[in-house]
Amino acid sequence: MHTRQYDLILWGASGFTGRLVAEYLTSASLSDPLNWAVAGRNREKLQRMLNELGHPQIPIIIADGFNKDSLLAMTAQTRVLCTTVGPYTQYGSLLVEACVASKTHYCDLSGEAGWMRQMIDRYHQAAADAKIKIVHSCGFDSIPSDMGVYFLQKEIHKQYGVYATHIKTLVKAAKGGLSGGTFASMIAQINQAKADRSFARLIANPYTLNPDPTFKGPDRPDLQGLYFDPVAKSWIAPFVMAGINTRIVRRSHALQGFPYGEAFTVRKP
Ligand SMILES: NC(=O)c1ccc[n+]([C@@H]2O[C@H](COP(=O)([O-])OP(=O)(O)OC[C@H]3O[C@@H](n4cnc5c(N)ncnc54)[C@H](OP(=O)(O)O)[C@@H]3O)[C@@H](O)[C@H]2O)c1
Repeated sequence: MHTRQYDLILWGASGFTGRLVAEYLTSASLSDPLNWAVAGRNREKLQRMLNELGHPQIPIIIADGFNKDSLLAMTAQTRVLCTTVGPYTQYGSLLVEACVASKTHYCDLSGEAGWMRQMIDRYHQAAADAKIKIVHSCGFDSIPSDMGVYFLQKEIHKQYGVYATHIKTLVKAAKGGLSGGTFASMIAQINQAKADRSFARLIANPYTLNPDPTFKGPDRPDLQGLYFDPVAKSWIAPFVMAGINTRIVRRSHALQGFPYGEAFTVRKP
């Protein structure tokens, strides 16, 4: 993998979120400068975006979500593939397959629990055997929740010698709104749940992303209505992405071997 042409390829760079990632990568003062490229299905759009960012020289790779050969040719050139092409249920599966086949690390912004469950079932073991990482939900969902719990538990353990058995995440205020792609991904999930009851049951399971989704723990489905929170001393309402964030926290915990104990909860009954 060290002999690959690029450290990172950003696929979907012409979209709303992809452009934000490209903007960050062109402005980030990284200690080790990245050798990276943008990718997508439309060269003109990608070139326009790079021109607007003032970095027209960044290489462009053409790969379409429905063309397996183009995906394989892309993933074979890089150590890490970052994708902002969604809905993932629609465009994501062939790319994960290509990353596993070409032994390329992968990260995405997916909030689609049902699709992630499918990817875990199909590719987790193959990815582990190939010594590559497939990391879903690397955006606002679910990094603050996932890494927040991780760093908080580390600090609690440092200070008190034990881990917390319950961590609650509340979002007080956030700037911005839902992007077009996020809206499309939510609609795709709702439609699938309406059409298929087993899918609806799967995404309702709080432990659906655990390595073993039949795991029985004390966590309950996410908040459904208004509730007066005695800790925050405030009324709280369901957060639109809580369903994915809590499942990602549970998955990370399970993958680490349940260091906080099997009774650890992120959604107290
Ligand atoms: N986790 C989070 O915090 C978070 C935050 C924001 C978004 N998201 C997720 O990120 C995803 C993208 O959202 P967005 O708002 O950035 O979407 P978007 O603006 O619609 O961008 C979608 C991108 O996918 C590309 N694309 C579509 N079909 C393709 C195909 N067949 N082959 C190759 N590329 C294709 C588009 O290319 P063209 O430009 O050529 O059309 C575009 O670059 C969504 O699934 C969304 O739910 C997650």
